[in-house]
Amino acid sequence: MTVSPAEEHDDGTDDDLVIRPAEQADLLAVVRIENESFSQPWPYDAFDRFLGEPGFLVAVVDAQIAGYIVSDVTTSFGRQLGHVKDIAVHPDRRDMGVGSALLSRSIAVLAAHGADSIKLEVRRSNEGAKRLYRQFGFEPIRHVPGYYNNGEDAIIMVRQLE
Ligand SMILES: CC(C)(COP(=O)(O)OP(=O)(O)OC[C@H]1O[C@@H](n2cnc3c(N)ncnc32)[C@H](O)[C@@H]1OP(=O)(O)O)[C@@H](O)C(=O)NCCC(=O)NCCS
Repeated sequence: MTVSPAEEHDDGTDDDLVIRPAEQADLLAVVRIENESFSQPWPYDAFDRFLGEPGFLVAVVDAQIAGYIVSDVTTSFGRQLGHVKDIAVHPDRRDMGVGSALLSRSIAVLAAHGADSIKLEVRRSNEGAKRLYRQFGFEPIRHVPGYYNNGEDAIIMVRQLE
């Protein structure tokens, strides 16, 4: 991805980057990135179930899937809860603003679908992701000891949208 200051947008991305809803044809590339990104990756079917969900978005750079985000809104006791369930960027495309662009669009989509707040879980050791979320106004609200299969704690982070 070439980023020259003249082409750069306010969010730090450039004209080669497109964020759009995920389609069936994207799923193999999505699963490949998932497998390269996580020790306990989601299987194909997990992504398949979210097709058609407005918060399932892919980032396309130079006609290739560079990353994705899976997010949705559910209702609980009259509250509309946004949830970021999964986000990853291809290892070769990291640190170029793709993750920020995905998160930014997801927040807009969840807000447009009535979310009052957005929650996510992050591994305690995942400093890069925690930094990204903090930049977008997410704040840690609690730890969940042993949340992940390897025994690692999760940190729950929340951003209010009202
Ligand atoms: C987390 C992830 C999605 C970020 O995507 P990205 O495209 O690299 O993110 P961006 O380029 O938009 O970076 C945004 C910010 O994230 C933070 N960040 C991202 N990667 C980082 C790293 N390795 N170390 C420190 N900070 C990092 C920085 O604060 C950065 O802001 P800056 O550009 O002002 O320094 C990507 O690193 C990834 O796919 N990681 C593996 C999967 C994962 O951990 N997902 C999150 C699970 S909760």
